[in-house]
Amino acid sequence: MRRCRKNSIYLSSEESFLAKISKLQMLFLILLLFEGLLCHGQSTTALQTLGSHHAAAEELPSFHLLHIASFANHSWVNTQASGWLDDLQILSWDNVVGTFKYLKPWSQGNFSKEELKNLQSLFQLYFHGFIRVVQAFSSQFQFEYPFELQISGGCRLHAGQASESFLNGAYQGSDFLSFQGSSWEPSPGAGSQAQKVCRVLNLYEDIKEIVQTLLHDICPQFLGGLLEAGKSDLERQVKPEVWLSSGPSPGPGRLLLVCHVSGFYPKPVWVMWMRGQQEQRGTQRGDTLPNADGTWYLGVTLNVATKEAAGLACRVKHSSLGSHDIIIHWGERTGTQLGMLEDSPRDFE
Ligand SMILES: *[C@@H]1O[C@H](CO)[C@@H](O)[C@H](O)[C@H]1NC(C)=O
Ligand SMILES: *[C@@H]1O[C@H](CO)[C@@H](O)[C@H](O)[C@H]1NC(C)=O
Repeated sequence: MRRCRKNSIYLSSEESFLAKISKLQMLFLILLLFEGLLCHGQSTTALQTLGSHHAAAEELPSFHLLHIASFANHSWVNTQASGWLDDLQILSWDNVVGTFKYLKPWSQGNFSKEELKNLQSLFQLYFHGFIRVVQAFSSQFQFEYPFELQISGGCRLHAGQASESFLNGAYQGSDFLSFQGSSWEPSPGAGSQAQKVCRVLNLYEDIKEIVQTLLHDICPQFLGGLLEAGKSDLERQVKPEVWLSSGPSPGPGRLLLVCHVSGFYPKPVWVMWMRGQQEQRGTQRGDTLPNADGTWYLGVTLNVATKEAAGLACRVKHSSLGSHDIIIHWGERTGTQLGMLEDSPRDFE
């Protein structure tokens, strides 16, 4: 019956940062308390989705918040939220207390205590509101229990230029919608269900304004501050340890050679099985996996005929090593092949 009126608390670009956050918070509260309830019977309420994925295909630094909500049934939901600088988790959301936990000494970037407190309140409202709204609209949006929503949103800095922001939502593990420019758009292939959800979300100018401010304004400032505050940690160089082993036998008369590279930082690394100067084209690279201490692990394999294994070596290039590549030869030590560091660059130095 009632039309969902648009609030008109507009944010001017001259406003102080803190004033902006406070206003966002106020605006969001108003939306939740009034619009959400008043317009209930109609078609709308606001999901203020925040977050996005967009795996870092590029190497430009990015920050994103990840929010995962699993709705088991109408009365039970589990949510998790975390903040990431590229692959590094720096924030987690404590559902019980309703606060961010700062996982690094520099996780707060250059934001003041007050700014962070206000942002935290904004997210408290968002997380509460999100659950309420999704539960209220699950049947209208044809979300079928049990279901999972994943929202990932953030920004990426472009070398000295404007930043780029993103916000993506997934339903049941598939891309569902995203925020593009200033409106919600269904993901290609997400069908009429996503179109419908976007149509509803797009009615909410205020929510879109909040999302825009968070993505285009607050996020890049936070990211810039993080990169400065975390500089020495982020730019540290840690040398890898390298050892060889054989993996599960790929078949009679064949060996799976495994080159383990572990404990290095930063993430980019070059690892190749070699015969002399010749790169072995059958080299298979696994995923680069995180160690608990923030360094990385990579396993690189080569499937060879047993009699051809002699003379092969694993070569590792990494920024921490300068030009002193690590080269470890297969079969230099019989037995398990573990702990072979005889040819580490220390020997060349
Ligand atoms: C909802 O799901 C939770 C978790 O799976 C379960 O423990 C609970 O009994 C369910 N409640 C109802 C009303 O089905
Ligand atoms: C934090 O640092 C970024 C990048 O240097 C800057 O753009 C921003 O204004 C700073 N923000 C605050 C709140 O000081």
